[in-house]
Amino acid sequence: MEITNVTEYQAIAKEKLPKMVYDYYASGAEDQWTLQENRNAFARILFRPRILIDVNKINMTTTILGFKISMPIMVAPIAMQKMAHPEGECATARAASAAGTIMTLSSWSTSSIEEVAATGPGIRFFQIRFFKLHVYKNRKVVEQLVRRAERAGFKAIVLTADAPSLGRRESDIKNRFTLPSNLTRKNIEGLDLGKMYEDNDSGLDRTLTWKDVQWLQTITNMPILIKGVLTGEDARIAVQAGAAGIIVSNHGGRQLDYVPATISVLEEVVKATQGRVPVFLDSGVRRGTDVFKALALGASGIFIGRPVVFSLAAEGEAGVRKVLQMLRDEFELTMALSGCRSLSEITRNHIVTEWDTP
Ligand code: FNR
Repeated sequence: MEITNVTEYQAIAKEKLPKMVYDYYASGAEDQWTLQENRNAFARILFRPRILIDVNKINMTTTILGFKISMPIMVAPIAMQKMAHPEGECATARAASAAGTIMTLSSWSTSSIEEVAATGPGIRFFQIRFFKLHVYKNRKVVEQLVRRAERAGFKAIVLTADAPSLGRRESDIKNRFTLPSNLTRKNIEGLDLGKMYEDNDSGLDRTLTWKDVQWLQTITNMPILIKGVLTGEDARIAVQAGAAGIIVSNHGGRQLDYVPATISVLEEVVKATQGRVPVFLDSGVRRGTDVFKALALGASGIFIGRPVVFSLAAEGEAGVRKVLQMLRDEFELTMALSGCRSLSEITRNHIVTEWDTP
């Protein structure tokens, strides 16, 4: 049967993948309330479309940190994509390039920074996390990763700031999730990070602070995006700390359960930044209408996570291409049906939220 929306890939991935792998990709933390709320909150925002506007020509292009892309829909960092498909992150990179958009490579990728770069030209960001190593060794490892990303032509660093530890995903505990033995996390091969997924020890550095954000700026000229901001308070600090952009994210509901949906806190974050840096959103985006709603609330663009690995599992590179194309088509249609011809015409008045006063 023909696939007609992004969500349909999830059931196919579930059928195709080993249970341990599917559960790792799909699950959220603890009660998975935030995972569900990420979808539910979008459904509570409604449109106020404008009519009888000539929408024959629609322009979805935008410029992100100086890089021109074909649409405000980008690819989030997802760890260990070769569990989904043998071509893993390289297939995702090719699909994102073909769609004219940005791909973010996870530091826990199963294809190396260099292998992804070798897939051809494309605008790519590199996601960084700090590891539980002695502070000097930790910084040396991070610096080496940053240098490799620079040499490979990556354009920005995405610092994951919402994961001093991994969230408690109970299916991973039940399944004793572990990376299949034929795969490695290519960028950090050979690093002694302890048992990783066993004993609930993720090997992550719990001491990471805003000071490290400042240190990162001393070692690279690449712009740094802070991923995982959920409050106006932290948005203000991020701007002061020199962030080039903010990603409002709850990690797809995989970290702290019972945080609000990102779409519910986006406006607070946008207001706090006072237009000084672009604000992006991820977590739960599955429809072109979701993209429009995020932009109407002040986002400069969105990132998608799970739809990428589910479509990769189902159809490899072609699947990821199709996901990006379907979202593009839906977003274009939403713009047309709302009376918007360019991203700058999308305004707060095009939507109504439950927190708007009548
Ligand atoms: C993630 N995410 C993530 N984030 C990050 O900064 N580094 C990483 O390595 C990963 N890995 C990862 C693996 C899997 C399986 C998932 C589902 C998510 C979070 C990701 O970048 C993004 O924030 C969410 O996936 C967005 O939510 P949706 O689109 O999956 O709902």
